[in-house]
Amino acid sequence: MPTVIVTREEAIAVVQLNRPEVLNALNEELMDELARTLEELDDDDAIRCIVLTGSEKAFAAGADIKAAFIEATPVSMLRQDLTTKWERVRRIKTPIIAAVSGYALGGGCELAMVCDIIVASETAQFGQPEVNLGIIPGAGGTQRLTRTVGKYVAMEMILTGRRVKADEAKAMGLVAHVYPAASWLEDAKALARTIAEKPPIALRLATEAIDVALNSPLDAGLEFERKAFYLLFATEDKKEGVDAFVNKRKPSFKGR
Ligand code: CAA
Repeated sequence: MPTVIVTREEAIAVVQLNRPEVLNALNEELMDELARTLEELDDDDAIRCIVLTGSEKAFAAGADIKAAFIEATPVSMLRQDLTTKWERVRRIKTPIIAAVSGYALGGGCELAMVCDIIVASETAQFGQPEVNLGIIPGAGGTQRLTRTVGKYVAMEMILTGRRVKADEAKAMGLVAHVYPAASWLEDAKALARTIAEKPPIALRLATEAIDVALNSPLDAGLEFERKAFYLLFATEDKKEGVDAFVNKRKPSFKGR
């Protein structure tokens, strides 16, 4: 059984984590396969937006506790070099929407936060329960959750390991939309199709600029934005977008 299943639907691709027997726990094989799959899609100009999802019951229940942690030592953890696989996922340029139904816990919540947008079924539950195992989040949870929801909410979630339901996650800014349980994946795909119609170079620079906002002082972020903004005036898609507006027609963007 592949640990990751890909379905292409015109300009979007749906990447489904596929270890249902362990609620999509993230073992080495799955993370390798995920990084490789996303890199292939990223190299394909026909794919303009990716939906990363799990099953109805679980997006992902975190690192594979039984496979990875029972005999683990600091040295074995270091040798596994998980960071490299997570970095490969983080470097994907094509926009990725995490579509979360059910559990997104520990590494599952961290994987959703590596994506560009998080949307959720009303059944979704987010959490960083690592403290219950005597450890802390190890794939960005203390950093990305804090930047997203602020110190005091992140502190409470991480120190208690409490699970947060979809509506609360939306209220705290972790989730962009909460969709009905009957249509969450279709709704996430509709969002992906909307994004897939936008100009790819502008999407890429907007994504980079927003990531710079989380990583640098305001002046440096504004400087990055200004240069990216000027650069877009050299693209065919800028001509197309402006011409379509002036002539009251729908633009067709080519990524050039
Ligand atoms: N690793 C390995 N196996 C897991 C797993 C995980 N993270 N989460 C669930 N499973 C397995 C269970 O062991 C169980 O397998 P068996 O049928 O063989 O017993 C199967 O998936 C179904 O799980 P449950 O029976 O527990 O299902 P449930 O509906 O009763 O509970 C749950 C669901 C609340 C998510 C519960 O499974 C749970 O608490 N899982 C662990 C969540 C967790 O602690 N995640 C953090 C991991 S550490 C981490 O991620 C570190 C990091 O930062 C990278």
